Amino acid sequence: MGEVMTVEVTDLVVRRDSMQILSVPELRLEAGELVAMIGPSGSGKTTLLHTICGLVRPDEGRVELVESDAHRRSADLHDTALVPQAFGLVAALTVAENVELGRKLWRGGGDLHPVEELLAVVGLDGLAHRLVRELSGGQQQRVAIARALAVAPRILVADEPTSELDAGNRERVMELLVAHAQAGNLVIVAAHDQTITEYATRSLTLADGEIVGTEIAR
Ligand SMILES: Nc1ncnc2c1ncn2[C@@H]1O[C@H](COP(=O)(O)OP(=O)(O)O)[C@@H](O)[C@H]1O
Ligand SMILES: [Mg+2]
Repeated sequence: MGEVMTVEVTDLVVRRDSMQILSVPELRLEAGELVAMIGPSGSGKTTLLHTICGLVRPDEGRVELVESDAHRRSADLHDTALVPQAFGLVAALTVAENVELGRKLWRGGGDLHPVEELLAVVGLDGLAHRLVRELSGGQQQRVAIARALAVAPRILVADEPTSELDAGNRERVMELLVAHAQAGNLVIVAAHDQTITEYATRSLTLADGEIVGTEIAR
């Protein structure tokens, strides 16, 4: 596997029930960036993130992962770890089992981090053997984040990853995502409010399925 990973979106259109829900003519996201996608509920954030992960297939245009001009391919989950908006955890398994399951299913590159270490950095030390269904929403959300970080993905996509967190844990999680970007990975984070933009290198504003604004930090 190559090193630098760029996401290139070209002439992207996604439709549902014959309605256009997303249109992105051109977008290029680079390794090392933490890109915030900001927009109200229904503006297309989840659809765009899922398209970048290869979970949603474009009706028109393409999303490509580019390692070099010679190596260009369609988006897929080999390189992309997703923190889903609804966490996507298995409630009847333990915290550690959920993180391990993510690692077992992971086929991308990257060094795998020890599970216990990751649980400590997301503030879940001591909870490794608790069932997920016994945890609070904010604790579950941090299990989903630990699961994504555990595979050291070159592209990490997080859909409203701080929605259930208090201010302290929000800062903790955003700092982890910043560190992951600064290590040379691409991190893409969606939120319906501005709270995460202070951590981003670039903030994109979505409205009605289109990118209507771009702000580059500092
Ligand atoms: N599977 C689907 N079928 C029909 N409409 C959908 C589907 N998924 C999303 N939409 C619509 O597309 C728009 C964008 O949704 P979404 O990407 O989930 O926005 P956000 O994540 O910003 O809240 C919304 O109007 C939503 O109702
Ligand atoms: Mg959403």
